[in-house]
Formats: sequence, structure tokens, C-alpha cells
Amino acid sequence: MTLSNDFLLQPFSFANGITLRNRVVMAPMTTWSSNADETISDQELAWYHARVEGVGLVVTGCTHVQASGIGFTNEFAAYDDRFVPSRRKLAEAAKSGGAPAVLQIFHAGNKAVPSLIPNGELVGAGAVAAPKGPFNDGKLASRALGHQEIFLM
Ligand SMILES: Cc1cc2nc3c(=O)[nH]c(=O)nc-3n(C[C@H](O)[C@H](O)[C@H](O)COP(=O)(O)O)c2cc1C
Repeated sequence: MTLSNDFLLQPFSFANGITLRNRVVMAPMTTWSSNADETISDQELAWYHARVEGVGLVVTGCTHVQASGIGFTNEFAAYDDRFVPSRRKLAEAAKSGGAPAVLQIFHAGNKAVPSLIPNGELVGAGAVAAPKGPFNDGKLASRALGHQEIFLM
């Protein structure tokens, strides 16, 4: 099938009944611009407001579900109820163009930022050092979580 504008502008229905008005999806994009307390900043809210008009679905930038899971500096957080007001503001901004929005949740595992996580301890599914990256010298291995710890996460 050739991808045409006509096709992209057709509605799409998921099996659960949610229908998107078109097939244009805003990709998840981390902006590294949360406030220092990991809440969403006014700057990032404005960034969503400026981009969500007309799309069929919005996927937010990723947010860490555990304090140990932060993958970028200034990433807005979702690991505690104290972030609910922040997430509510994000939801309002992401949906302000009339499309549904998905919150992208994640845990950065061995690619988390060592200086920003509790005790500087990387945790993940296995005891492995992530390749060298912007926040990681490639030498620090994660501690493998036990089944019980994964269950409790
Ligand atoms: C600045 C920036 C931030 C991104 N943040 C995320 C993210 O939080 N989560 C994610 O899954 N992908 C993220 N991505 C990847 C994009 O969503 C997208 O998959 C990638 O740019 C490839 O898109 P393309 O195949 O259309 O080129 C990011 C990309 C960029 C450029």
C-alpha cells in the first residue's frame, strides 16, 4: 500500500473502542526541561501546547516509575503520588489539541543517571554495564534485581 495523505487522515479505531481522528501520532520526545523537583515545567507545558493541534494521538516523553529509573537530567517523574498534580498538568496540555494522549512510562535500568538515583546504585534485570553514554562512563554495572524486588516495583 502506498502511504498517502488520504490514508494518514483516515480515522483509526483500536479494538477497545477508542477511535483516533487520524493516524498522525506525535512521537515521544524527552525535552530535558522538568523543574528541579522533577515536576513538569511551564516551559514543557508550552512545548506541548504548541505541537498537539491536529494530531490523532499524542505520546508523551518518557517518565520514570521509580526514583532509580531516571534516564535523563530534568526528566519529569511519575514514581510517587506527589507527582499527580504535575502529571495532571501534563495530561491537560497533551490533550489540549483534542486528541487522546498516552503517558510513556519507563525505567532506565543500567542506563539511569548514577548521580541522580538513590545511593548511586544502578539496578536492572541483570548485572550488566551499559555501553558508555552521555550520563554513563560504561564502567558501572547494574545490580540484578531479585524476583521479589521486581514484583514490588
Ligand atoms: C529529542 C528527542 C527525544 C526523544 N525522546 C524519546 C522518549 O522519551 N521516548 C521514546 O520512546 N523515544 C524518544 N525519542 C525517539 C523518537 O520518539 C522517535 O522514535 C525517533 O526520533 C525516530 O523517529 P523517526 O523514525 O520518525 O525518525 C526521542 C527523539 C528525540 C529526537
